[in-house]
Amino acid sequence: MIKSNYIKELIEKAKKDIKTIVLPEGEDERVLEAAHVITEAKAAKIVILGDEAEIKKFYQKNNWDLHDIQIIKPEESPHLEEYTQLLYDLRKEKGLSREDAAKLALNYNYFGTLMINAGAADGMVSGANHSTADTVRPALQIIKSAKKGRCASSFFIILAKGEPYIFADCGIVINPTDQEMADIALSSAETALHFGIKPSIAMLSFSTKGSGKGDEVEKVKRATKIAQETLQSDEYKNLGIEIDGELQADAALDMTVAAKKAPGSPVAGRAKIMVFPTLEAGNICYKMLQRLGGCEAYGPVLQGLNAPVNDLSRGCFAEDIVGTIAITCLQAIK
Ligand SMILES: CC(C)(COP(=O)(O)OP(=O)(O)OC[C@H]1O[C@@H](n2cnc3c(N)ncnc32)[C@H](O)[C@@H]1OP(=O)(O)O)[C@@H](O)C(=O)NCCC(=O)NCCS
Repeated sequence: MIKSNYIKELIEKAKKDIKTIVLPEGEDERVLEAAHVITEAKAAKIVILGDEAEIKKFYQKNNWDLHDIQIIKPEESPHLEEYTQLLYDLRKEKGLSREDAAKLALNYNYFGTLMINAGAADGMVSGANHSTADTVRPALQIIKSAKKGRCASSFFIILAKGEPYIFADCGIVINPTDQEMADIALSSAETALHFGIKPSIAMLSFSTKGSGKGDEVEKVKRATKIAQETLQSDEYKNLGIEIDGELQADAALDMTVAAKKAPGSPVAGRAKIMVFPTLEAGNICYKMLQRLGGCEAYGPVLQGLNAPVNDLSRGCFAEDIVGTIAITCLQAIK
């Protein structure tokens, strides 16, 4: 069923350290098929939230084995009370009442996220039937950023002619400040290291090294400076991360253009990570590559959180869900 060689590779890697992934959308046949594929491949332990009788019926119809998959109906879970209390304790200072915590814990995306917080799962994949905001809000509220003060963001793995690139942020932070754009670059560098991609980062703009003017260009210049300064800290200085900007996409990717527009840049012409100045630019760009450029796109994958929670497009196929589950497993490996 899996056509992408890249996803096949990720599945093989995921098998080396089995993680538990919760899928809150048990009513969706694409999710059930992906759960079957991942379980057959022995790449993760899957927990599906949903109605056991309905899920069993679907598995029997397809002649699939359900033994290694756990099904939980949140309304009937013996942990519901514990998760309600957990949510209440985490959010009462934000004004959440006990009564509202009880209602929210019954929302499957919240329930799945609370399972991660309680240690019952390592990651979650949702969004086949929910908006990005509904999928990621519980994670932002409950799981929180891994580094205090750093904004969480998202990335796509873009496969262009078989070569993986990281594009960020194409899913979460709508109009990043200079500090947030620097955060996105640093989180993307960590993601790249985790996935074996060279951390060579282009801070993208419509200008290369002063060729264009305006507030938008100044923001990218400031973000580049903040990120480069952070690279000098003990945490980052020996990791081989390189960041340069502001760069146009052609200067970031093409050696000939790079030689003309950004001579001497350590990144221009060979960038593997594209950091966009706005969500608008990033989101439009990745969809164009996917629809017109023949590229595979996996994401949005959240980065910078304490545990992985990942979103799906509502138009996704079962294979996309399999890919996102495999990516989530790898993110959960410390
Ligand atoms: C992600 C998104 C939903 C968050 O917005 P929101 O739900 O209105 O979030 P809020 O501003 O109410 O914040 C909720 C919590 O998340 C936190 N939060 C929001 N964005 C965050 C970020 N990028 N990093 C870390 N925390 C964040 C807030 O600080 C807040 O925490 P608190 O309640 O503990 O104080 C919003 O940024 C969004 O809609 N992004 C675009 C999504 C989209 O449409 N993408 C395109 C399709 S892929």
